[in-house]
Amino acid sequence: MKKPQLVVANWKMYLNIHDTSVLVNRLNKKVPLYRNVEVVLAPSYLSLQPVSMEIDHRKFRLAAQDGYFKDEGAYTGAISFSQLRELVNYAIIGHSERRRYFGESLDEIRDKLSACVRNGITPILCVGETKQERTQNETKQVLHDQIVTALSDLTSEDIENLVLAYEPVWAIGADEPAKPDTIDKAVDWIRYQVRELYGQKAESSIRVLYGGSDEPEYVAGIMEIPGINGLLVGRASLNFEEFSDIITGVHLSGLSNE
Ligand code: 13P
Repeated sequence: MKKPQLVVANWKMYLNIHDTSVLVNRLNKKVPLYRNVEVVLAPSYLSLQPVSMEIDHRKFRLAAQDGYFKDEGAYTGAISFSQLRELVNYAIIGHSERRRYFGESLDEIRDKLSACVRNGITPILCVGETKQERTQNETKQVLHDQIVTALSDLTSEDIENLVLAYEPVWAIGADEPAKPDTIDKAVDWIRYQVRELYGQKAESSIRVLYGGSDEPEYVAGIMEIPGINGLLVGRASLNFEEFSDIITGVHLSGLSNE
């Protein structure tokens, strides 16, 4: 059975508990239930519990924005996937902001992916090159290294549930998304890596998202790209009308591709 398209809201370190609740209530009312789109919300850790009580579970699922790779122990300040498993279905792993500001290494990201899978949480692995890497023609190498290292402890069965998000670092927080042609080439390469490592079945089972300055006006163009199964949305997901329009855009693009 074809998996639904996936739209993920990454609320990063925005919104306190109250403001998150206001946004969730607006989304509950505004977003229709579409059978071909799965919508996932990733609020801060603090809001996961309250949001899990507030969301309309027919319309929304939850994701953590990160997690620690150990299951439990004396790790002050950390939150494990074994603690998150009762609240979330998904977790964002290896976001470029984690790599950049928190020094996350490829090995750490690999361990987080394993921890996620071990705890029954579906990982959304973010990959993408910086502007400098693109300028120096290193995009393919960077994506290869990020994917090969991150997936190295997983079985082909684990991979079939995986979600990969192509998020070119230079397109995050920018004026507009990467051009469809650029996304197309990167997604092709990402899918090729998975096929080479884990075979055709794994490659056709994964979902690949695009993230980086997604706005309603760009949705149709991005969703037309073969091999794209949804979006990972930052800023526009903080506005309930824009986010709802994005979800509807993904729904409509799914209908026209049927
Ligand atoms: P923006 O949509 O704000 O560019 O953020 C993208 C992102 O980083 C999602 O994870």
